[in-house]
Amino acid sequence: MILISGVAGFIGSNLAGKLLEKGNVIVGIDNFDPYYSKEIKKENIAHLSKSKNFIFYEGDIRNERFLRKVFKEHSIEAVIHIAARAGVRASIKDPYLYNDVNINGTLNLLCAAVGSVKKFIYASSSSVYGNPIYLPIDEKHPTNPISPYGITKLAGEKYCLFFDKTYGLKSTCLRFFTVYGPGQRPDEAIHKFTRLAFEDKPIKIYGDGNQTRDFTYIDDIVSGTILALNKNIHGEVFNLGYGKRISVNELVDLIERYSGKRIKREYVDKAAGDVSDTWANIEKAKEMLGYEPKISIEEGVKKFIEWFKIKSKNKKL
Ligand SMILES: NC(=O)c1ccc[n+]([C@@H]2O[C@H](COP(=O)([O-])OP(=O)(O)OC[C@H]3O[C@@H](n4cnc5c(N)ncnc54)[C@H](O)[C@@H]3O)[C@@H](O)[C@H]2O)c1
Repeated sequence: MILISGVAGFIGSNLAGKLLEKGNVIVGIDNFDPYYSKEIKKENIAHLSKSKNFIFYEGDIRNERFLRKVFKEHSIEAVIHIAARAGVRASIKDPYLYNDVNINGTLNLLCAAVGSVKKFIYASSSSVYGNPIYLPIDEKHPTNPISPYGITKLAGEKYCLFFDKTYGLKSTCLRFFTVYGPGQRPDEAIHKFTRLAFEDKPIKIYGDGNQTRDFTYIDDIVSGTILALNKNIHGEVFNLGYGKRISVNELVDLIERYSGKRIKREYVDKAAGDVSDTWANIEKAKEMLGYEPKISIEEGVKKFIEWFKIKSKNKKL
């Protein structure tokens, strides 16, 4: 039995779907945090709820009593801790909230898991690195986050590694690099740009658009996470990216190509908290986990746009 926190979100729901397909029983928890629409999150888990192997609790990881109850009712063997308040820019406006959900929430879940759970997987982020000193970024790169979000994700990692070392809760931290694909959060670049393209509205690009990102397709993140869950490795941190990068300007070109839309670009001041570049060195995950990302950005953007068109026709966005 695997507990997934943040199961109604983009990554959590995709991961739960794959693990159910593989025959696992999933206990999912989510508080339908208002960062974006509850309706989208309910839709994310609607198909999962049809499975008798999916048990869902609406609740908050900051609520210790709630967590204790869930762990008492089920014999949880593994935890995949995905729940977090996401969003770099929003974290600058409300660092207390990010601190509370991402650090206190993580600590609560670790405390609930210790003693009985055999493996704890933590969804971390490339944001822990801050502006890169060298590229591609390997796991030894210094961690100098430049947003409250990045700081809280790094603190979460430190707690996981502390619990691994001191309390014997086998933990693995996965640093995801910009994840996209069907179901992506509506505030994220590929989703937002595509939506605006189809609404014939201009898009805002922060800075000159030459900043680069290593965009990672959701299926690759899901398979990397499952590999980390099943390998007898713990106390480690891994980058999970695609291993290549493109600029924001090149990304918009790709969306134009596959949507058939002409996109008007408005260049505005660089946003605080946004790092200059991300590009993952994924050698460690390849060697130790057998991770092998498969979906290129060209293929992934194409798949995303196909999904977007179907969803918007059904008015489910
Ligand atoms: N999407 C990315 O590009 C990306 C990149 C790096 C890391 N991550 C990490 O991956 C995880 C998932 O990201 P996502 O894009 O799927 O975000 P998401 O917002 O779609 O999913 C997060 C889920 O957690 C839930 N949640 C938030 N606060 C909670 C709380 N207090 N109690 C219970 N549930 C709560 C939300 O309701 C949401 O369903 C996060 O930990 C994020 O930091 C994401």
